[in-house]
Amino acid sequence: MCGIFGYSGNKDTNDLVFNGLKRLEYRGYDSWGIAVLDENKIHQYKDIGLVQQNPDLKKLPKSKVGIGHTRWATHGGVTKTNAHPHISTTKDFTLVQNGMVENFDTLKKELKEEGYKFKSQTDTEVIVKMVERELKKGVSLKKALMIAFKKLEGRNTVALLDAKSDKIYAIKNGSPLVIGVAKDGIYLASDSLSFSPHTKKIIVLDDYDMVEIDGKDYVIENIKDGKKKKPEVKTLKYQYEDIDKGKYPHFMLKEIVEQQKTILYATDYSEKELEPLVKQIKKSRKVYLLGAGTAGFAAGQIAYFLRTIANVDAMEIKSYEFKSYLPVISPKDLIIAISQSGETADTIEPLEILKEKGCKIASIVNMYGTTISRMSDYEYYTNAGPEICVASTKVFTAQSAWGYLLSMTLAGKYRTAKGKLKKLTKSLDEIFTKKSFSYIKNKIGKTLVDKEHFFILGKGENAAIAYEGALKIKEISYKHVEGFSAGELKHGVIALIEKGTPVIGIIPSEEHKEDNKDLISGMEQVKARGALTIGIGAPEFADLEIFDYYISTPQINTLGSIANVIPFQLISYFLSVLLGNNIDKPRNLAKSVTVK
Ligand code: M6R
Repeated sequence: MCGIFGYSGNKDTNDLVFNGLKRLEYRGYDSWGIAVLDENKIHQYKDIGLVQQNPDLKKLPKSKVGIGHTRWATHGGVTKTNAHPHISTTKDFTLVQNGMVENFDTLKKELKEEGYKFKSQTDTEVIVKMVERELKKGVSLKKALMIAFKKLEGRNTVALLDAKSDKIYAIKNGSPLVIGVAKDGIYLASDSLSFSPHTKKIIVLDDYDMVEIDGKDYVIENIKDGKKKKPEVKTLKYQYEDIDKGKYPHFMLKEIVEQQKTILYATDYSEKELEPLVKQIKKSRKVYLLGAGTAGFAAGQIAYFLRTIANVDAMEIKSYEFKSYLPVISPKDLIIAISQSGETADTIEPLEILKEKGCKIASIVNMYGTTISRMSDYEYYTNAGPEICVASTKVFTAQSAWGYLLSMTLAGKYRTAKGKLKKLTKSLDEIFTKKSFSYIKNKIGKTLVDKEHFFILGKGENAAIAYEGALKIKEISYKHVEGFSAGELKHGVIALIEKGTPVIGIIPSEEHKEDNKDLISGMEQVKARGALTIGIGAPEFADLEIFDYYISTPQINTLGSIANVIPFQLISYFLSVLLGNNIDKPRNLAKSVTVK
């Protein structure tokens, strides 16, 4: 879970790599480093913490070729020595890696026995020494890298800067690697977003593809079959010139507010575009939706829509829990993968196995050309634009809204769905007001700031929203928050309620009679035990005495559930602002979890 960036061309590399790393910081932000070349000599700069303008960086010489890395530590602590790039003993090459060498212990032991000395605790340095070992046998650097790479277990992608030839060599396996083809040179990165201001023309590498970049030229060959290849150069639909916070103090707030637009982008599909998937769902025995974290909750929400709107036999599986379902999943079933990054290892693993089993795969992904979309028979995109904050907000609602449109299309109600989605996004105006932000921050946020344990109750269409709401608050505020189906209350959860315990209830409109009754009675019961009660949902219940605080949300049929998640995002945001936490980069987390 790291970011790789490289450049070779006419422009000065230092700023390019530095700015590229800033855009890749969501992939890992505990340390970073840059290596550039000057007269066949490698110059490196490494630092711990966020990628920040550092006067020392200016000491790097001007260069036309370089590589960089943002790290999310796996092997070895957060130190400058463990930061990438890792330079060879002779200082002839330096290397960065994204992934995890699973046979690291065995390889390191072998190398140590052979007399190799290590400075860092990383698995990356093991790769460097393995290349050195091959070089000693007299092969070229390119060949040495190929041989060493083939011995690595796990998902690994590496980029190597060769001081003697001024070339960059990179090999991909599992962790993503994209080439950007621009007039000024060749870009290389873990995602196309990082070089988006420079080019829309991209090549997505396959596993075991090696690219050799020499000035503005590149050659790709697959190291498994040894064949050279000329993959198609694709042109991206969107180019994101600036990825900045604009008028907002944090990306999280910007991304929350963007939802008025992104819900519509994610559902900007014609019936014709959805038709292949609609047909596949109709002929499938069962639909399984796979995802992890927030994407796992979106999978639950989409499964709910498919069942209740389109009578489809659909259920979500947490991707990391797929194994016990394997005996019952048949090739007649359809798998829909949900992912923001398209690179989540926990989700890729089951997809590989299920594809092999003969299941058809569909996906809804935010990032273009990623592993998950490339594995899919039916490839859809949320098109929500870059989501920089580690905590997912706009992509959750985008995924859920796409699932709603799909379900309504299956039910023959495509046009109605489009109308309702428009209405939903318009009515979000009510939440995005100064008054409502101030209420959430100054009334609710300030009340919650000293509390340590909160509980969230939802039911039916709001069950997945309760789980997602809890995850959102946990991730940024570091408070202990649990989401439950309101049905669980009497079966155990109520034992935790004492005077002042915050309980947030998601209140559906009376259209969902049963769920509404259960939620109101659940909130009455916790209130009777002294809970601090907050309601989120249908405006007509805002004045009930059982609520200490209430945030009204627009309830447009079952789409009310999508609106209901937004107050949780805002509570998470404002509470964490009050706590002084790092909003966009919460501790211990990375945006894209590409290792298991
Ligand atoms: O990229 P993905 O959507 O597949 O990522 C899955 C989870 O790691 C992700 O949703 C994570 O839970 C987020 N930090 C939630 O905000």
